[in-house]
Amino acid sequence: MNLDLFTPDDLTPANVRLAPQAVVLRGFALPDEGRLLRELAQVWEQAPPRHMVTPGGYRMSAALTNCGTLGWTTDERGYRYTRHDPLTGQPWPALPASFMALAQRAAQAAGFPDFQPDACLINRYLPGARMSLHQDKNERDFRFPIASVSLGIPAIFLFGGMKRSDAVQRVALQHGDVAVWGGADRLRYHGVAPLKDATHPSLGAVRVNLTFRRAG
Ligand code: SIN
Ligand code: FE2
Repeated sequence: MNLDLFTPDDLTPANVRLAPQAVVLRGFALPDEGRLLRELAQVWEQAPPRHMVTPGGYRMSAALTNCGTLGWTTDERGYRYTRHDPLTGQPWPALPASFMALAQRAAQAAGFPDFQPDACLINRYLPGARMSLHQDKNERDFRFPIASVSLGIPAIFLFGGMKRSDAVQRVALQHGDVAVWGGADRLRYHGVAPLKDATHPSLGAVRVNLTFRRAG
């Protein structure tokens, strides 16, 4: 995997380095698209996306669900990982093989070998939905990176610093792009700007983000 920045004679979509240990791998998930979407549909059947409430009482504009041993949830009592889906009482659906393989390959390409995710948070955004700046910090061990797969309509990813008030880079994430951040950049603030109206040939007016973590 070539992690060089764009050069004028480079005709392939350029990867983007956001920070020393943070990169966007352009189109990295495209070869897996068909299988990812089939397995996503199966996960959604067992554990449908739903709008959760933050501890501050706000309804999240993205609808979320999980697959993997652990799933991230939020309600009035706080943010946490659980083994069971609070909606159904069932264990979260297992991480599909295509999800696991993609997350590991992307982490490896970004310089993080030995990534063993046990959690995949699945966010579904419709036009207008957003994700405010936050740190991913409910995981047990920050040595493992975050691998984040974008599918469907584009979004502007906001990538900041260690403080909420730090300057933010804005980078468009397209269908098939994979962002990976870890190491010294693991706790950077990040978020998603409100999505513009658009339609994707496979997913319609929807963006899906798969965020892989080692949570437990
Ligand atoms: C997240 O940080 O949980 C989601 C990021 C994204 O949707 O790209
Ligand atoms: Fe996040």
